[in-house]
Amino acid sequence: MISSYTISQVQQQANVYEVINDFVPLKKFGASYKACCPFHNESTPSFVVSPAKGIYKCFGCSASGDAIKFVMEHEKMSFYETIRYLAIKYNIPIEEDEQSPEQIIHKSEKESLMIVLNFAKNYFNDLLLNNDEGKGIGLSYFKERGFNDKTITSFELGYSLNQWDAFTKHALKNQFSEEILEKAGLLIVKSEDNKKYDRFRGRVMFPIHNAAGRTIAFGARILTNDKSQPKYINSPETEVYIKNQVLYGIFQSKSQIRNLDNCYLVEGYTDVISLHQNGVQNVVASSGTALTEGQIKLISRYTQNVTVLYDGDPAGIKASLRGINLILQQGLNVKVALFPDKEDPDSYVRKVGGEKFEQFIKENAKDFITFKTELFLAEAGNDPVKRSQVIHEIVETISLVPDAIKATIFIQHCSRLLQVEEELLLREYNKLVLGKKKKQQEPSPEVESEFDIMAQIMEAELGLDPSTQQPQKKQANHFTGREAEVLRLLLTYPTAENNGILLYQYILNEIEEIDFRDIVANQILDIFKTELAKNNVLTIDHFMKSSNHEHQKFCIDISIDRLGISENWFTSYQIIVPPKDEDPFSTAFNAINHLKWENIKQLQKETQEALLNAQPEELEELLMLSMHLKTMEREVSKLLGNVVR
Ligand code: UTP
Ligand code: MN
Repeated sequence: MISSYTISQVQQQANVYEVINDFVPLKKFGASYKACCPFHNESTPSFVVSPAKGIYKCFGCSASGDAIKFVMEHEKMSFYETIRYLAIKYNIPIEEDEQSPEQIIHKSEKESLMIVLNFAKNYFNDLLLNNDEGKGIGLSYFKERGFNDKTITSFELGYSLNQWDAFTKHALKNQFSEEILEKAGLLIVKSEDNKKYDRFRGRVMFPIHNAAGRTIAFGARILTNDKSQPKYINSPETEVYIKNQVLYGIFQSKSQIRNLDNCYLVEGYTDVISLHQNGVQNVVASSGTALTEGQIKLISRYTQNVTVLYDGDPAGIKASLRGINLILQQGLNVKVALFPDKEDPDSYVRKVGGEKFEQFIKENAKDFITFKTELFLAEAGNDPVKRSQVIHEIVETISLVPDAIKATIFIQHCSRLLQVEEELLLREYNKLVLGKKKKQQEPSPEVESEFDIMAQIMEAELGLDPSTQQPQKKQANHFTGREAEVLRLLLTYPTAENNGILLYQYILNEIEEIDFRDIVANQILDIFKTELAKNNVLTIDHFMKSSNHEHQKFCIDISIDRLGISENWFTSYQIIVPPKDEDPFSTAFNAINHLKWENIKQLQKETQEALLNAQPEELEELLMLSMHLKTMEREVSKLLGNVVR
């Protein structure tokens, strides 16, 4: 049991920013930080960390808490595991209260598994470096492959002796029970005859680490040409090794993945290691299996950009397309680089070195959808039936992209590649997306409430039946630029903070007395306010996915218009997110004042007209109004810095 003194030390010293930033890259945002929420799927950040308050909060899924709660939830650790982890991070000595034997037995099983796995890792590593067999066979194999000492140390490589039970004997001598060895996947116990033997024998050992750097499993490579044995033997699933949530190399690579904001994805253990040694250190391996959702989530803690590195074997490529679809679906940006014939990342980097390797990727990596389109088109040739199948397949892939803006851009680009009208692709795309929406059995409560609100607004303001939307269509197509800009800021950065004020509070307060003239803008604003009253802060993403196509289109328009998608969007389609240096508060300040200015001008015009036709008893009121407008005009123009006169 950890003493209460240690616990309180940890509580005092754990800084919510430092702790969370180890798992989720945080971006500065006013006095706070923000990121895409690690607890639910999103592509626009609504996860906010406030160091001043020592808390995090997600406005999308309502996850919230302090540094300790974060680690517990994110790493699925118990309270005590978390305290231990943070104590180590902050160099706080861990004082243990006296433990009763019962407490020792009940010590978390996961923790015991990791202890025995760590013990095994040290044992295998020691054999590799100091034992005759280990040095003669294991170490010389690694040296032959070109691995240097630093690499061996940082990947904690090892060797298992070619004996039936060398490890088990050693572990039993060190007070580990057979039961825990078996649970950790290190000891095999045959149920038929109760024969027991080490799982890993006579192989070089690749420890598999979790993101925090603890050993949770092993991969073990054979050193002979014995074709009756598998090349790699891996740990089975255990309580600490859940295969579909682990990527080989994540611990060694995570900081570079974050720094470079890109993750290379390769197949094998040795690819990761070779690349690292050659200075390419933002790389993880899926370890020969198809990529899973859990693995993609793991990557997306550090970056939204993945480059998949393939050996150039068409069969292999086709097999892995499905995995890439999954990455797209999670909202990540995917590129693909193919290696020249017969080369894999390991052999290629050893041949040309790290710099040329990076150069090669830079020149050859293609955006995934383009890659797939070209691959399929080449196959289809001029066969019209096949070509139409390709179109279908590609549109289907695009429909997986959760971000509507990105999808729209892909459609534009693919219409050129496929030489098909954009309209046609768009129609096909809409069909698919709508079909998917219908398939989602129950409408989510959000959609329902949004519809209710719409109905209310229409009834109250327009006297319309929501099922006959026609009459408002004409007006809805245009909107004033100022309103759109204010709305864009509100929906893009609602929770940006400045001196303790959130952007949405600032904007809503400032425009309290202004009615948007554009109907769609007004509807969106109303939905935002209604949801806010229920503590939901909606973002532009919400409306992009809206089943109301006018809302959706409005939001796409305001984002695209603003950013001016250029011809070369394709090489850097990052540009579809607002410029990084945009300061939401000062931009909003300007936009709001411009909006006010326009409103004042419009009101002045209306007042002037009214004055011309006024009855004598109306005159005084109109003149008062006119003076009031003059004062406001002067105030706003001061705020706008004499840009307007
Ligand atoms: P590879 O056969 O490409 O292995 O399998 P490798 O890592 O490049 O090893 P070298 O270069 O031949 O020494 C890719 C990955 O597939 C998994 C391993 O994770 C391996 O790294 N694999 C492969 C297995 O799990 N079992 C096997 O029998 C083979
Ligand atoms: Mn290889």
